Amino acid sequence: MFSYEEIKQIRNQFPILNQFPILKKKENNSIYFDNAATTQKPVQVINAIKKYYCNFNSNVNRSFHVLDQFTNNYLELSRNNIKYFINAKSREEIIFTSGTTESINLIAFCISKVIKKSYDIIISHSEHHSNIIPWQVLSQNHNANLKVIPVNSEGELNIRVFNKLMTKKTKLISISHVTNTFGIINPIKKLIKTAHKYNSLVLIDGSQAISHLTIDVQNLDCDFYVFSIHKMYGPSGIGILYGKKKVLDKFTPYQCGGGMIEKVTLKKTIFSGLPFKLESGTPNIAGIIGTNKALNFIVNYSIIKIKNYETKLLKYALKILSNINGIKIYYKNSKLTKILSFNIENIHSFDLGKLLNNYGIAFRTGTHCAQPIMDYLKLNGTIRISFAIYNTIEEIDIFYKYLIKCLYYLR
Ligand code: ALA
Repeated sequence: MFSYEEIKQIRNQFPILNQFPILKKKENNSIYFDNAATTQKPVQVINAIKKYYCNFNSNVNRSFHVLDQFTNNYLELSRNNIKYFINAKSREEIIFTSGTTESINLIAFCISKVIKKSYDIIISHSEHHSNIIPWQVLSQNHNANLKVIPVNSEGELNIRVFNKLMTKKTKLISISHVTNTFGIINPIKKLIKTAHKYNSLVLIDGSQAISHLTIDVQNLDCDFYVFSIHKMYGPSGIGILYGKKKVLDKFTPYQCGGGMIEKVTLKKTIFSGLPFKLESGTPNIAGIIGTNKALNFIVNYSIIKIKNYETKLLKYALKILSNINGIKIYYKNSKLTKILSFNIENIHSFDLGKLLNNYGIAFRTGTHCAQPIMDYLKLNGTIRISFAIYNTIEEIDIFYKYLIKCLYYLR
């Protein structure tokens, strides 16, 4: 577990935490509890991006000058480090995208080539919109069936129904590792094992898991694992698509352009192999360089220590918030992650969010890009607080103090 001194040192690496000029309007608070939406960035990440533009900006894999070679080496170093971080078998399995959304859309595009009428694609009721819409569109365009694993009143997957949904017609299951609404850890290993008995591919949306859990894609045996770097202390506009080589080898390019070819004539093109055939155009080089620093940051503090610390914060928040009259905390019985969602009787989450924001506290309210699960649970939204390595018990106490104050005004 991190000591008080260590957390102080960690906080000092995040320039924004000492400033937050917009948040610090009243009471001098600047508390950021919206880490499931995006995390803040340490100075190492910010400086690496600045250094790239100031000292060695160039394209990659295009020219033979020293700048290009330097940048290219750095990019491949980032790819290798991602490979180690999630324990992929080879660097060819790591594709740079612009984020989770593009990763899922890329897979949907490539899979669409083999999806036929009456095939099944399975998602769950509690997915983020970015893991619903691509499959909805794909199913509609190909007359395939989009089937949905139902959840119980706490938002947990109904595995019994999932087992019944699986047939030989199931071609893909796409499911979140940790739900962005309630922080539920889905039993993905079990789902993957079952899916593979039916020869179905499995895509795991790891957006909310990647900065909190140890990910071992070989052990999970998933076919795809996707995530965004901006949720793990890195820059926005950069994401990862992990895919098993034998599956990605069968994919035809998602977009065509420079950087992904062996030979082009006006009659035909021979594409590069993996990973390049799925990475056309100039990549987000600065983002990839920042990614490497973000990874170093996490590895340096250890993902297990980060998880334990965030769980400690969540348990504390759960304990003190449970004292509030009329509070309904979503999913407090499960293994805990870094996300806590709740409502307070007769108070709209937007009203509470707006008021608390006036006291310099930022968190997310509403339906969290997951309207189907909110509709199913008959919720017009929730208040969601989510933690990262730099948050503290003291911040939770301040949050609680102002929450009580706001409830006094609203009730
Ligand atoms: N997916 C992000 C969230 O859950 C934006 O807030």
